[in-house]
Amino acid sequence: MAAESIEKWVLTLTAQTPTNIAVIKYWGKRDEDLILPINDSISVTLDPGHLCTTTSVSVSPAFTHDRMWLNGKEVSLSGGRFQNCLRELRSRASDVEDKEKGVKIAKREWENLHLHIVSYNNFPTAAGLASSAAGLACLVFSLAKLMNVKEDHSKLSAIARQGSGSACRSLYGGFVKWIMGKEENGSDSIAVQLADEKHWNDLVIIIAVVSSRQKETSSTSGMRDSVETSELIKHRAKEVVPKRIIQMEEAIKNRDFPAFARLTCADSNQFHAVCLDTLPPIFYLNDTSHRIISSVEKWNRHEGIPQVAYTFDAGPNAVLISHNRKTASLLLQRLLFYFPPQSDIDLNNYVIGDKTILKDAGIHEMKDVDALPPPPEIKDTNLSTHRNRGEVTYFICTRPGSGPVVLTDQNQSLINPETGLPK
Ligand code: ADE
Repeated sequence: MAAESIEKWVLTLTAQTPTNIAVIKYWGKRDEDLILPINDSISVTLDPGHLCTTTSVSVSPAFTHDRMWLNGKEVSLSGGRFQNCLRELRSRASDVEDKEKGVKIAKREWENLHLHIVSYNNFPTAAGLASSAAGLACLVFSLAKLMNVKEDHSKLSAIARQGSGSACRSLYGGFVKWIMGKEENGSDSIAVQLADEKHWNDLVIIIAVVSSRQKETSSTSGMRDSVETSELIKHRAKEVVPKRIIQMEEAIKNRDFPAFARLTCADSNQFHAVCLDTLPPIFYLNDTSHRIISSVEKWNRHEGIPQVAYTFDAGPNAVLISHNRKTASLLLQRLLFYFPPQSDIDLNNYVIGDKTILKDAGIHEMKDVDALPPPPEIKDTNLSTHRNRGEVTYFICTRPGSGPVVLTDQNQSLINPETGLPK
């Protein structure tokens, strides 16, 4: 290693990775350490332009131990899941040469070199938006590139899976299946891409970040309790999901929105039914989530054909998938009618992401929100009972997006190239 002669070199690499939302849910593990699921799952990758993790990783002989900073604060890397990912990556590292810096790292040296990892989520980590999926996928992807790990994305997905189950699906853009696999060592529990983000690019996704006072049950402990106590989860994993996976793959292949929407809503509802069937029961949805479900169901029923699909993970936030831009603008009108913001909030901060949906909906300022007419499917004329001010914190308008990328612009690095510390 040229490290002996040039003492203070620092090599860095930066990557960006999307988050994903499952439309056929992962719930329940058959192996807690390797994170092996009891059923296949399917997700849509979300546009990293709106929701993503950026991670810079660096290596230097000057580093004394592995360190990580997340959203500006140093965090511990001692957890088993981080350690599993780091061990798997180090064992697959290859020779690396940086001619400009005059640095050569031989394959065997990676075991003794320490890493600095600086990561930033462009959305609140506490908002319940699957930040660990994007985060662990980005950690694995960026380190694999830095260490010249010569494995394809599916193999990397199996490493990311050991950090956070759903992270394996964030290694690809578009529509992704996590195959549960059969092997005891988890080698065949990998993600594969079903279709890229261009395949069905008229879908529009609106996320309602719902205000929540409740401390949610972590997915890890919730899943464990479900596997130990729910009868319904066994029926779901053995009988229901295998059929839905086939139907969902078909719906995605044919861009069949009604089938896609029916399966997505049914699977979200069954996942929450499993949560209720758990002892003690787990409540992830709240009154606002229920109001969103009812309003979408009412609209879909009124139209006679699904306009919008809803899906909820382990929290109250709604992810609403609409068929195209036109239905997305009609959806946003409804959402803003039912959930107007508190009076002190700026519209620009209330609807973020792709603002063109707001323009398509004819909403330019707050008085347009106040003037929204009730949707035609509402029969009850007492409008005040329908307007639930302040129940939604904000909306994010987005779409299906692409997979991980390396960022080559040094300005986007989160690490100071001289010190190897966060900028
Ligand atoms: N958990 C939440 N966000 C994360 C990130 N960016 N990296 C690693 N773990 C995370």
